[in-house]
Amino acid sequence: MKIAVLYGGTSKEREVSLSSGKGIIQALSKRGHDVVDIDFNPKDLEDVMEKIKTVDLVFIGLHGKQGEDGTVQGLLDLMGVPYVGSGVLASSLAMDKTKAKQIFYMNGIPIAKGNTYGKHESQENIVEDINQQFSLPIVIKPNQEGSTLGLTIVSDESQVKPAVELAFEHDFEILVEEYVKGREMTCAVIGKRGQEQSLPIIEIIPKSEYYDYESKYSAGGSEHICPAKIDETLTTKIQDYAVKAHQILGCETYSRVDFILKDNGDPIILEVNTLPGMTPTSLYPDAAKAVDMNYEEMLEQFIQLTIK
Ligand code: DAL
Ligand code: MG
Repeated sequence: MKIAVLYGGTSKEREVSLSSGKGIIQALSKRGHDVVDIDFNPKDLEDVMEKIKTVDLVFIGLHGKQGEDGTVQGLLDLMGVPYVGSGVLASSLAMDKTKAKQIFYMNGIPIAKGNTYGKHESQENIVEDINQQFSLPIVIKPNQEGSTLGLTIVSDESQVKPAVELAFEHDFEILVEEYVKGREMTCAVIGKRGQEQSLPIIEIIPKSEYYDYESKYSAGGSEHICPAKIDETLTTKIQDYAVKAHQILGCETYSRVDFILKDNGDPIILEVNTLPGMTPTSLYPDAAKAVDMNYEEMLEQFIQLTIK
C-alpha cells in the first residue's frame, strides 16, 4: 500500500514527532509498504498536497498544534484521502484540555479541580484569582499543548506569576489545576468505533520528580510497568474510563488516555492523546508489546482497522 507518513511539523513537539516519524517510516517500510515521507510544513502546502494526492492512505505521526488538533485532519478530509486515527472534532476536542474536561465531567469521568484563564484577562487579576481560589501546590499549564511543555508545578506563591507567563507563551488559554501527586497510569485504546478495547494499563515511574519532558524522552528517563500492579477493580475502572473517554470525544482507531491516582486510589483523567508518541521511549508501543504485538504489527493493526 502506498502510505504517506506526515511527521515533524511546526509545533513545539516537533522533536518528538521527528522521532515518532522515524519509527513509523522504518516500520511501515519493513512491512513492505511504499512509504512517502513528508516532513510536514504548512508553508509547503502545495508540494505536500501533490505528494498526498498520490497515496492510498495517510499515517499522521505529528504531535501538537497543526497536526494533532484537527487542522491536518480537515485538510485530508477535504482532499478525500483516508487517514489513520481520529477526525477533526475529536482531535480538536482532545487537544483542548478544558473542553475535554467539561465533556469528561458531564459523563461521570472524574477530573482534577481547576480553572481556565484567557489572554484577554489581565495577568495581575489572574495571579490574584489563582492565589484566592487555590491552595498550593497547583499545576499551571497551557490549555493546548503536549509533552508537559510550558507546565509548572507551583508550590510557592512567588512561582505563580512566572508560571502563568510561561504557560501563556504556549497558548492563549491556560489551565490551572490542583496538583494531584500520585501514581501515574496510562491506558491505550484500540479498535473500530463501538468495538474499542483497552490494552493493559502502564504505570509510569519517572526518574525525576514528575513525568516531565526529560523523563518522557531520554532513554531510561522513566520506567514503564505493564501491566500496572493495581488490583482488578481499579484496573477495570481505569480501562472503562479510558474507552469511555475515547468514545465520548468521538476518537477513532487508537488513542492513549492518561490518568493519575489520588491519595485514596481513585483515578482522575488527565487527557486523551489522539496521536500518542511512537518514539523509542513512548508508552503506546509498550502497551502493545504486553499483548505480544510488536511495533510493526501495532501500526499494521491501525491501518487494517482504518481500511476495513
Ligand atoms: N504528546 C505526546 C506525544 C504523547 O502524549 O505521547
Ligand atoms: Mg499529551
